[in-house]
Amino acid sequence: MAEGNRIGVVLGSIRKGRINDRVAAWTVAQLQAHGFEVDVIDPADPDLLPVQINDDAAISRLRARMEPLAGHVIVTPEYNHAEPGWLKTLIDAVTAEWWTRPVGIVSYGGVSGGLRATESLRVVFGELHAVVMRDTISFYSPWRKMDEQGNILDPDEAIAAQTAMEVFSHRLHWWVDALAEARLARPYTPVAR
Ligand SMILES: Cc1cc2nc3c(=O)[nH]c(=O)nc-3n(C[C@H](O)[C@H](O)[C@H](O)COP(=O)(O)O)c2cc1C
Repeated sequence: MAEGNRIGVVLGSIRKGRINDRVAAWTVAQLQAHGFEVDVIDPADPDLLPVQINDDAAISRLRARMEPLAGHVIVTPEYNHAEPGWLKTLIDAVTAEWWTRPVGIVSYGGVSGGLRATESLRVVFGELHAVVMRDTISFYSPWRKMDEQGNILDPDEAIAAQTAMEVFSHRLHWWVDALAEARLARPYTPVAR
């Protein structure tokens, strides 16, 4: 299990004034509290932004960041009933780095809580030999519910979200460990040799 508990938290928005930072801050703090080490993969990071125009050097940097990670949590808004194009571009920029990694999804949006983006991503990650967890976390209207640091303002809602994240993290640990053990025992080759 070379990767240990180090996972990526992949941000889904590069929009100026994005709400993504709040939801991601909450997600990162929760995952760390549940024993994960986190590398935040931000498509707006100047080192990674050129991935959006298929820049080879930026894609190499992204690959190097992702290669040692044991799984990922995607924090995504819903744009027109799917994931934002920026996120899809980042996902499409690499291949083997996704293979056999567990992927958890935290979504947000209007009344849908971003769930249509989540379901869209299930299809995408299926094609990338990744394992999308059954459990998801979803926030509707987080702009009304979270402060700028990602604290959930209503105490009952904060507890409900923390409880959901406890289960999510427990199951993510299982998938991280199980898939790391499987890769060690038998390196994954998508075609027969
Ligand atoms: C291009 C665009 C499309 C959107 N489409 C949806 C949508 O289909 N469903 C939804 O619930 N919210 C939609 N929204 C509202 C977003 O959920 C909201 O703006 C959210 O803050 C976006 O995340 P961000 O601020 O991190 O970029 C859309 C927003 C934009 C900019």
